[in-house]
Amino acid sequence: MEILRELHDRRAYRAISDAPLPGTALEHIVRAGTLAPSCYNNQPWRVVVSSGESLDALKASLAEGNAWASRAPAIIALAARECDDCRQDEGREYALFDAGLCAMAMMVQASAEGLVAHPIAGYNPKKAKAALGIPADFILITLIVVAHRGDPDSPDGALLKDWQRERDKGERQRKSLSDIAYRDRWGQSFA
Ligand SMILES: Cc1cc2nc3c(=O)[nH]c(=O)nc-3n(C[C@H](O)[C@H](O)[C@H](O)COP(=O)(O)O)c2cc1C
Repeated sequence: MEILRELHDRRAYRAISDAPLPGTALEHIVRAGTLAPSCYNNQPWRVVVSSGESLDALKASLAEGNAWASRAPAIIALAARECDDCRQDEGREYALFDAGLCAMAMMVQASAEGLVAHPIAGYNPKKAKAALGIPADFILITLIVVAHRGDPDSPDGALLKDWQRERDKGERQRKSLSDIAYRDRWGQSFA
C-alpha cells in the first residue's frame, strides 16, 4: 500500500457506538499525541480526556449538528495558548499548528487502535471550557470524539441527520492534487 493504512482508514465517521473503549486506548492515544513535533520542542498542547464525571456536562456544550457525538464514551479536549509556543514574523504563530500535529498523531493512533477519532469545532467553547475547568486564557481548539465505529443504519446512527448518514456511507471527498500542490513554483503543475 502506498499510503499508510492508519491514514487511509481514518475517517471522521459520525455513526458511533456507545460501547466502552478498550482499557488502554485513551492512554495510547494521548501518548501518541505527545510524540508530535513542536517549535523549539515547546509542546504547547494540553489535553483533557473526558470519559467520566465531566462527560455529560461537556456533551451539553455540543452544537445541535453534533448531536451524534453525545453517544461517545470519551471526548478529548485539546487546548493551547499562543504564548506557550513560537511566535514568528509573517503571521507564523505556532501554538495552534503544533497542537494540530498533536491532534493528528492522536487520530492516527486511534485509527491504529481500530477506533474513530473525530475532531469537531461545533461546540460552545465557554460551556466546554467550564465543563472541563480549562483556564480562560487557553484556546479550546477542538474536541476529538473517540468511539468504536457504528453502523449508520442501526441505533448507532439514530442521531444522525440524513446527510450525515449518507456521508458516513459515501466515499471520502478530497480536492485533487492539481488543486492544492505545485511543482517547484506556485501555480506550476505538480503532475
Ligand atoms: C477543525 C475541524 C473541525 C471540525 N468540526 C466538525 C464538526 O463540528 N462536526 C462534524 O461533524 N465534523 C467536523 N469535522 C470533521 C470534518 O467534517 C471532516 O474531517 C471532513 O469532512 C473530512 O472528512 P474525513 O475526515 O472523513 O476525511 C471537523 C474537522 C476538523 C479538522
